[in-house]
This record gives sequence, structure tokens and C-alpha cells, in this order.
Amino acid sequence: MKETKRHISREIGLEIGHIVGKGMFKLDHLHYGLWKKGLEPEILNLHIAQDEYCKFIIAHIPAEVKSILDVGCGAGAFSKRLVDLGYNVDCVCPTEYQNKLVEQLLGGTSEVFKCKLEDIRTDKKYDMVQFCESFQYIDLDRVLDIAGSLIKQGGYMLICDFFKIQSADKCGIKGGHKFDKFMDLLGKSPFEVIENIDITEQTAPNMDILDRATKEVMIPVVSAAERFVRSRHPFVLKLIKWRYRKKIEKAEKKYLQGKRAGKDFAESKTYRLFVCRKTK
Ligand SMILES: C[S@@+](CC[C@H](N)C(=O)[O-])C[C@H]1O[C@@H](n2cnc3c(N)ncnc32)[C@H](O)[C@@H]1O
Repeated sequence: MKETKRHISREIGLEIGHIVGKGMFKLDHLHYGLWKKGLEPEILNLHIAQDEYCKFIIAHIPAEVKSILDVGCGAGAFSKRLVDLGYNVDCVCPTEYQNKLVEQLLGGTSEVFKCKLEDIRTDKKYDMVQFCESFQYIDLDRVLDIAGSLIKQGGYMLICDFFKIQSADKCGIKGGHKFDKFMDLLGKSPFEVIENIDITEQTAPNMDILDRATKEVMIPVVSAAERFVRSRHPFVLKLIKWRYRKKIEKAEKKYLQGKRAGKDFAESKTYRLFVCRKTK
């Protein structure tokens, strides 16, 4: 029950993120940006950094790959880009909102499995299964087996995502599987690591942007709205604040005192690109 609620709120968060990002900041993707030296880390440059992230991944797709399963394809912009480059791309994503966008974007070129990766039913096998910031959403105890069953012998698994490292509990940034556990499971799996690239430093600025947007926009807007309601309906406001006091306290702790900047991300997470070959 708790997990379902968490899943729903994460999916709604991604939907809002996509609507705001696309509508206001020309963002096509739901993943972090890759901040190259010289690119000012500010929200108006995020679409450039996201484009760099896509280019980075594309540059690491092994030459023999022709067919790709894009797991957690989001709004489908990256899948479309791969199709335009000549790859045969199928997608799997459990979110209705995103699936509608993906189908519009890809037309009939791709099969879209409208379910969680854990629930996929197909006999198809791919040259590569790709997780572009979607790996952390999938049950770590099952994901390597499921991915392995969808990859041809000698094919590849590409993961670009962040993981928690030791001090993660002290940090206010959620998300990511435990890195130690992942490495342990990967070591016991039929996958051989071909590439393991640390891009934590180049992705951490995303958190500075988010932290600034929270402190400089979201919190002042909420505070102005609160003053408005207090001036008109002080009793209703009191009631709401009392009813949701625990949630409000939690949110204040997270967004006002929480360690949520780029340096906190860099201390508590490791953002990696893994390219692995299925050997057995
Ligand atoms: C952060 S978004 C990344 C989207 C996209 N790959 C991108 O790079 O823009 C995570 C994606 O994973 C999807 N997702 C969450 N749980 C999933 C699951 N169990 N199986 C497949 N996809 C899942 C979400 O719906 C979302 O599309």
C-alpha cells in the first residue's frame, strides 16, 4: 500500500515535471542534464544540458546494436531520437500520461508495452536494453534477471542513473538503489561490465537548480498563497494547518533545512553510466 502510494506520487511528480518543463523551459526529457564545463548551471540552460546527456549516451551505444528496448521511456523524446538515428526501438512504461505522448511521437514505428518492466510479457529479444534514469524505479532484486531475459546472447544492458552511497541517509535527496548492493548483484549476474563511467560531478548542478527553484520560487509562492488565505479565511487555514501538521513539518524539514544542493548530491550519490555485455 505504502509502495503504491509512493509510486503514484512519483509518477504524478514526473507528469508535473514534464508539463512545467516542456511548457516553460523547452525540456523534452525527464532526466538530469549533463553540465559540461563552461555551461552556466541555470534552468534556462537545462535543455542544453539534457541534450548533452543524450549525446553522451548515444556515443556509448555499442556499434553492433540495432534494436533497443527503452525502459521507462518517459515522454519518448529520447526513444524518438534513437529511431531517427536508425535504431529499432520499443518502449516500456507504466504511465498512461507518458504512453499517450510516446505513441503520438513514435506513431507506428515502435511497440509500446504499457506496463512496468516487471510485468512485460513478450518473446522479443533486443540487442540492448536501456535504462535512462529509470533503473532506480525497478525492484533491484529482479531487474537484472528481467533485463537479461530480454537481451540476446552477447547483447548489452545500458544503465545511466544514480545510486546511493554510504552517507545517503543524512542527505535530503531521495532516490537511487544502494550502490554496494547493485555492484554485488551485478558481479553475480551474467553481465560483464564494459564501461563504468562516473558522471556525478557533471550531473550534480541539477540539484543546485532544483534547490534554488524551491527556495526562490516555490516557497515564496506558497507563503504568499498562505497569507492570501489567512486574510480571507483564517479559520479554514488554521484547520488545514492543524489537519496536515505532520506533512507540513516534514515538508519544511525537507525543503528548508534539507541538504538538497549539488554538493549534497555529490556526497551522497554516485551517478554512473554502465554498459554491460550479457555473457551467458
Ligand atoms: C526519471 S523518468 C526518465 C524518463 C526517460 N527515460 C528520460 O530519460 O527522459 C523515469 C521513467 O521510468 C518510468 N518507470 C517507473 N517505474 C517503472 C517500472 N517499474 N517499469 C518501467 N518503467 C518505469 C517512469 O514512468 C518514467 O517514465
